[in-house]
Amino acid sequence: MTKQNILELLNHALELEHAAYAQYLSHAEIVDGINAEPIIARLKEIANDEKGHQDKFRTLIGVLGGIPSMESAPTRAAKTIKQVLELNLADEKTAVDTYRNILNELKKEKGKGYYDHLLEHEIRHILTEEQEHITEIELLLGISGNSY
Ligand SMILES: [Fe+2]
Ligand SMILES: [Fe+2]
Repeated sequence: MTKQNILELLNHALELEHAAYAQYLSHAEIVDGINAEPIIARLKEIANDEKGHQDKFRTLIGVLGGIPSMESAPTRAAKTIKQVLELNLADEKTAVDTYRNILNELKKEKGKGYYDHLLEHEIRHILTEEQEHITEIELLLGISGNSY
């Protein structure tokens, strides 16, 4: 794995975060009904976390001498609260799997440079927050603990 490969993985992650941020905020505007308010609040809170992840990935890419992507991964529209929650749960799982893969790739690089430790630390932190998002969405869907 070269530094260029790592930068590609990080830019892909950044594009996932761009998509997640826009999708959560868009979905927050289509949720309505008697149970809407706590769900809207949760979607906006998660969107804010995704924005923080964008910042972290941009910084990591910059530290490695790369150019942070301005592109976005695809987003998906939803029509009902259930759809909103199910779509975002699936995307959170994709994020967790993607970041686990980056961590596995980085482990193979151990000892090759001091950047690896910073990367590992930051990505593990982001991964933990994505797992929290899964827990929060599972709770709203009434399927706690059943995603994995
Ligand atoms: Fe994220
Ligand atoms: Fe997330």
